[in-house]
Amino acid sequence: MAEAKMKMLSQKEVSQHNTKEDLWVIIHDKVYDLTQFLPDHPGGQSIILKYAGRDATNAFDPVHPPDIISRYLTADVCMGEIDVSTLENEQREETEEEKRIKLARENMPKIEEMYNSFDFESIAKTILKAEAWAYYSSGADDEISMRENHNAFHRIWLRPRVMVNVKNIDTTAPMLRTTCSMPLYITGTALGKLGHPEGEVVLTRAAADANIIQMIPTLASCSFDQIVDAATPEQTQWLQLYVNSDREVTKKFIQHAEKRGVKGLFVTVDAPQLGRREKDMRSKYSDEAPGEMENKDQDVNRGEGAARYISTFIDPSLNWEDLKWLKSITKMPIMLKGIQTAEDAVLAAQHGCQGIVISNHGGRQLDFAPSAIEILPEVMDALQKEGLDKDFEVYIDGGIRRGSDIFKAIALGAKGVGIGRPALYAMATYGDAGVKRLIQLLKDELVMCMRLMGAPTLGHITRDMVDIRNLKDHFVQSPTDNLSGSSYEKMIPRGLLSKL
Ligand code: LAC
Repeated sequence: MAEAKMKMLSQKEVSQHNTKEDLWVIIHDKVYDLTQFLPDHPGGQSIILKYAGRDATNAFDPVHPPDIISRYLTADVCMGEIDVSTLENEQREETEEEKRIKLARENMPKIEEMYNSFDFESIAKTILKAEAWAYYSSGADDEISMRENHNAFHRIWLRPRVMVNVKNIDTTAPMLRTTCSMPLYITGTALGKLGHPEGEVVLTRAAADANIIQMIPTLASCSFDQIVDAATPEQTQWLQLYVNSDREVTKKFIQHAEKRGVKGLFVTVDAPQLGRREKDMRSKYSDEAPGEMENKDQDVNRGEGAARYISTFIDPSLNWEDLKWLKSITKMPIMLKGIQTAEDAVLAAQHGCQGIVISNHGGRQLDFAPSAIEILPEVMDALQKEGLDKDFEVYIDGGIRRGSDIFKAIALGAKGVGIGRPALYAMATYGDAGVKRLIQLLKDELVMCMRLMGAPTLGHITRDMVDIRNLKDHFVQSPTDNLSGSSYEKMIPRGLLSKL
């Protein structure tokens, strides 16, 4: 499209196209006629109707990659450019939610008062928009797997060794040929701009600062190139891939990523269909006043949440045979992300993958899928039994919240661990500084754990340092000891104390 020839439109003119039959919206200073597209919008019609004749940029940005318009709309729907001098500043009253967030932001603790990953989570809950919190925090169905992911670590106890020289602790970890400062990476999570206006590039900068790897998500809010551009020349990034039903799209994306220097391709294999996340689905109703929209009932997709909006392109036919094709189009190491049994770990190695991520997708896919840490030992045993454990890297994600969790994963054979939600919460609350602090806290905890365990390097962390006898037991919780519990003081971040 010849940008120079674009027609200038006034706000008054745009505002007249505000009906279902004749619908224009402004996105990033361009005016689009979305009348024909309306019924096909994966996110439903209501949200577009809400912005009919108006600027939709702020609602659009968090949930769409920037290049989506050129990918899905033809050039003729662009009616021109908005004459910004005609834009009136919309003077409207703050919503209840905006007031709530402003107050919560004013009352945030100082960053130095954040002592662990849970602190970021508690504060994130107060400052995120309801829709963002619902999307990030939700898990599938009853969220049993999601909670199990963290709880499973509580069933592993440590066997500390003493009288070891632990003056110097070295957490350096090689991961797919990159030497990282610790065995931790930021895993791919969608829609970063729901948490922070800059989105995933915040994670890129923090990962560079900490010398850890960032996995770039297919469904990022920033474009892939923006995220790569934000990296330093020596920084390693991986790519999380959702395979598109249109294989040409995927091929182009993979080859582009390889050209741009991405060092590992992590194909998500646990999400042929996105799980039901009810918190996310419910939050779709909070965004609009009752009776605000016409034709509510026709808007079939509306209740399915942000996850569904963005994921309709994922190919559910992906299977083991496709690995040949993937290997033929890239030289990047191919890793399968979302392996949940020892059998599939063995198959991944037999099909020539360079490794796997054991993961249940943060408990967002199949409820009652086991936690990664629970099946890590059997995966390692099976690979070893088949002689497939050499040059095959096993990572895990899900529920990692403490340095000791990282220690346990390394003891059981993982090369490294991924964190998802904790990084999002740290980013949403304190931006770059938050993510840096989160990584530093996890590193400090890991160093402390290694020192107290008598393991000066990762190579000294061995399986006999953890007691996993109870790992497979999914106990029904014992009754709470109320007597001792009532005198135990809860650890609450200062910013929340005043609200109790
Ligand atoms: C999710 C996908 C998009 O879990 O990864 O929401």
